[in-house]
Amino acid sequence: MAEAERALVARGLYHIYREAEIETIALRGAGLTLERASWTSLMGPSGSGKSTLVHVLAGLFEPSGGSVVVEGEDLTRLPPADRARWRRRRVGVVLQRDNLHPLLNLEDNISLPLRLEKKSRREVQTRVRELLHEVGLTDRRKHRVGQLSGGEGQRAAIAVALAPWPQVLLADEPTGELDEGTASEVLDLLARLRSQEGAAILTVTHNSQVSERADRRLTMRDGEVFDGE
Ligand SMILES: Nc1ncnc2c1ncn2[C@@H]1O[C@H](COP(=O)(O)OP(=O)(O)O)[C@@H](O)[C@H]1O
Ligand SMILES: [Mg+2]
Repeated sequence: MAEAERALVARGLYHIYREAEIETIALRGAGLTLERASWTSLMGPSGSGKSTLVHVLAGLFEPSGGSVVVEGEDLTRLPPADRARWRRRRVGVVLQRDNLHPLLNLEDNISLPLRLEKKSRREVQTRVRELLHEVGLTDRRKHRVGQLSGGEGQRAAIAVALAPWPQVLLADEPTGELDEGTASEVLDLLARLRSQEGAAILTVTHNSQVSERADRRLTMRDGEVFDGE
């Protein structure tokens, strides 16, 4: 693979949780590469370290070891304040819950990360309109989070994550709480966005319905990532 096609390269990641006397080594040398405009699926049993890896790749947790390089820049070398800003621009994240601000309507949820980036009012408006259209929620733009269905909420979270044109979109169990029909709508959306937005997508799941749709499949076991299923 040409270096230029790599949106994200993670190598040798370690993460250790310490609670009271107990240490859990959740990542043990995990690494992976994500290509631009491609969809990679990461499967693995519960407790294998998937969510921890998403948090580390997103810059939400600092790893105990290893590196995360996005578009040539090493996230793990940045001071925390820069890391937060960097993450907002480069890596979009859809977590298992609490992706949206409950007091804001959908339109304001999508525009918030753009306003934090000091985009012009015109640029914000154009991007919000474009994303609402892409995720099929234009007529829900004035709704608050609590007024959206499960599938709409996930599509909304994807729109928010994509707002600042990130190079990478990470989604932890994006269909985890959805029925099969609604889940497949979310998967259709991800497949479309891969080409429209050009972002590298990583979905983390224990559901084979999700992994079948991806371009490439990885498996996580005991804090390590392996090629294939
Ligand atoms: N906040 C935490 N404190 C302590 N241990 C944790 C914490 N979060 C996860 N773990 C442990 O780390 C391991 C990996 O968890 P996780 O990344 O959530 O796996 P997965 O998403 O694959 O189910 C598990 O053994 C889990 O119990
Ligand atoms: Mg998890």
